[in-house]
Amino acid sequence: MKMLYLPLILFTLLSFQPPGSFGGKILVFPLDGSHWINMKVLIEELHAKGHEITVIRPSDSWYISEKSPLYTSVTLPYSSGFEENFETYLFQQLEIRLRGKPTSSWSRIWTQIQIRNVVVEQFTQFHKGMSETVVQMFEDKELMQSLHAAKYDVLLTDPGIGCGAMLARRLQVPLVFNVRWTIQGEAHFLVAPSPLAYIPFTGTELTDKMTFPERIKNMLSYIIGMYTLFYMAETNYKPVVMKYFGPDVDYSTFFLDADIWLMRNDFVFEFPRPTLPNIVYMGGFQCKPSKALPDDLETFVQSSGDHGVIVMTLGTLVAKLPQHVTEEIAAAFARLPQKVIWRYIGQRPTNLGNNTLLVNWLPQNDLLGHPKTRVFVTHGGTNGVQEAIYHGVPIVGLPLFFDQPDNLSRIKAKGGAVIVDIAMLERDSFAEALMTALYNSTYRENMQMLSRLHRDQPMKPLDQAVFWIEYVIRHKGTRHLQTQSYKMSWFVYKSLDVIAFLLTVVLLMMLICVSCLRLVWRMIFTGKKVKRE
Ligand SMILES: *[C@@H]1O[C@H](CO)[C@@H](O)[C@H](O)[C@H]1NC(C)=O
Ligand SMILES: *[C@@H]1O[C@H](CO)[C@@H](O)[C@H](O)[C@H]1NC(C)=O
Ligand SMILES: *[C@@H]1O[C@H](CO)[C@@H](O)[C@H](O)[C@H]1NC(C)=O
Repeated sequence: MKMLYLPLILFTLLSFQPPGSFGGKILVFPLDGSHWINMKVLIEELHAKGHEITVIRPSDSWYISEKSPLYTSVTLPYSSGFEENFETYLFQQLEIRLRGKPTSSWSRIWTQIQIRNVVVEQFTQFHKGMSETVVQMFEDKELMQSLHAAKYDVLLTDPGIGCGAMLARRLQVPLVFNVRWTIQGEAHFLVAPSPLAYIPFTGTELTDKMTFPERIKNMLSYIIGMYTLFYMAETNYKPVVMKYFGPDVDYSTFFLDADIWLMRNDFVFEFPRPTLPNIVYMGGFQCKPSKALPDDLETFVQSSGDHGVIVMTLGTLVAKLPQHVTEEIAAAFARLPQKVIWRYIGQRPTNLGNNTLLVNWLPQNDLLGHPKTRVFVTHGGTNGVQEAIYHGVPIVGLPLFFDQPDNLSRIKAKGGAVIVDIAMLERDSFAEALMTALYNSTYRENMQMLSRLHRDQPMKPLDQAVFWIEYVIRHKGTRHLQTQSYKMSWFVYKSLDVIAFLLTVVLLMMLICVSCLRLVWRMIFTGKKVKRE
């Protein structure tokens, strides 16, 4: 029976392919953790389009399973760099943040310096592990030969690690990035002109309207930030690049060479800025219409009546918080007439109100799309922010790490979020923030407006992403979309040589004029002298 059905199923699958479609061979080098969850959305869609996908995964991977109907996997004996210590390291950051109550701007700066030191140390370790992976991979002759022989059409990777870009160069395969971060920082700062007068640098929480002191802060943050990123990546990847690609190769060109940058944000979220023809914005590509909730959750949500529900989660990595923080949060929730669904795994707060439901996991997208959801309490991670925009739900932000403060400050600047500093969090201020987001209608209206803007696009972000990956396969790259700027030295890029030349010409002309005038003047003068005599 089963055997009989097989050809039929195959036939149906094949006949569902849109006309003109073709299967490409795609090699994926993902970054583990929450980034993989995003990458998988793309892989699912590419698989549905009939492409053949191979995924390179670390042997101790957290999320990337070895067996999948979507892809074949190649397991490398490298460490994902995530493992046990990633969570401890996040907690280390959180502790510093909680310890330093930012009462004065000095203690705020001090806290930031401490956090920065921890981050630098951890990232240096992380990149060290990754560069060792590259060496292992390149030294594995058999693996490299089989990757060569497979003749992939395109390599899709997350440039938050250097491995994928280097492998693409080694295999001479077109490169597509699923990107927000490269190892050199926010991707735009690497590829596109980024005037600091109106483009806030990462981590500054500034907007596109800056005062003079803010612009000073922005400039200083840029200089320090770029130097730090350069230092972290350079020390680790440079020796590898030297070894395999020669001494005059700058590893940043591996990134600049990418054919398409699929950028995980868009201008509903981002401040307007210069961009390039091979940057494709696919912010919100992971968003889907919500589905029905499981019965027990639906009953709970319905029991909230007209008050509605509040949904809270701090992402996949931070399931627990220190006890005193959770008690303050629980106390604030208990004061409200709304029902609360809170994803939390740690010890149950003793003062939990009877309106609050603690869960180990929640269907975030389905809850955000539920008409009874009033407010979303989030840390500002990728999926949370994008799904809140998609469904138009106002945010109360509790930023914790990395660029989360920036993400939330963007939504705040657009009038859709209230932000609470976790170091200053106590029940009164948190309850007040919740009430503001619940009862001041401007927050909901602004988020609804962002939602309408986000959905008003000629093509869905996910379709757009898949289109451009297939475009790269069809045309074997996108050389024609790449600017020449990458191939120039910085003084040519800034036209300093031309300016110097033109200035010299002007100076020379002025010099000639002055000399002529002096000559004429002297002639007249001496002429007069001669006459008088
Ligand atoms: C929940 O607690 C509030 C106040 O603490 C109380 O008035 C209410 O009756 C309780 N509801 C239930 C169902 O226990
Ligand atoms: C912040 O939001 C952007 C855009 O949604 C996303 O790409 C980025 O990963 C987010 N940052 C974190 C730390 O989740
Ligand atoms: C609602 O919030 C906006 C923006 O913060 C503020 O301008 C406005 O005065 C608030 N409205 C009320 C009724 O508090």
